[in-house]
Amino acid sequence: MYAISSGAIVGIGIAAAVVLAALVVVVTARRSDVRGAGALSRETKSRDKASAVATAVPQSGKDVERAARGGAVATVTDTAPVVWTAPDAEQIGVTRRHFFNVSAITLMTASLGGFGAAVLAFLWPSGSGGFGGKVPIGKVDDVLAVIKQGKGFGYFPNARAWVTEYPASALPKARGTYAQPVLNGMEAGLAVLWQKCPHLGCRVPQCESSQWFECPCHGSQYNRAGEKKAGPAPRGMDRFGVEVSGGNVVVNTGLQLNGPAIGVNTTGQEAEGPHCISGEGGKH
Ligand code: FES
Repeated sequence: MYAISSGAIVGIGIAAAVVLAALVVVVTARRSDVRGAGALSRETKSRDKASAVATAVPQSGKDVERAARGGAVATVTDTAPVVWTAPDAEQIGVTRRHFFNVSAITLMTASLGGFGAAVLAFLWPSGSGGFGGKVPIGKVDDVLAVIKQGKGFGYFPNARAWVTEYPASALPKARGTYAQPVLNGMEAGLAVLWQKCPHLGCRVPQCESSQWFECPCHGSQYNRAGEKKAGPAPRGMDRFGVEVSGGNVVVNTGLQLNGPAIGVNTTGQEAEGPHCISGEGGKH
């Protein structure tokens, strides 16, 4: 199972915050636009109301008749009309258009930046503890106990690695074959293998009965040290650099090394029972 690092979670959180902020800005801008397009502000409404009261003049027919008979005629206040100057439509259009252009570019940039940060946080190898970095898997004795419990195969999901026992008797051959980061594990009695099949990348499961690794995808088979025995794979199983210090085993999943060439067989281990798959080298 793939673990999401804390960096990825923070990155996704940043992206979500940016998208949320973008939505708030867009909604606010939209409201402003609608109000500007036709809705009257509270201040305008109250001014209209006051104006209506001030200019209310009785002009009915009865008023006129009453005035003709000598009644009082309402006094009309002669207020000079305020000259209204229409705003420059071109100016308003440019300003609004400019605002939306700048907003759109800013939001797009911020959203892309947030998304990019989230993707980088997800893909960036973590320094330690997770796949892509250095993964401690315990003391040598503890690792050997896990292997025993797994009937010859120890699986360490954080490192996406299989670990098997590597016989001390095979070390002379191994020293002429493997690079030192791989030998570090072998010298401590451990073969540390990447779970990924070097053919097309399937996860290679163990086969307890044959005590080999046998890939169900296209039938490649490898002995317990991950050296190729059969099938279409171009080499043995790839492996990780290993550091052993004070009895503690650390798998450096950032240091991935190609598996040994076809034909390398340092341990000479043959199948110890029936195969789990029928392939080129699988004989039930
Ligand atoms: S992916 Fe394993 S044999 Fe093809």
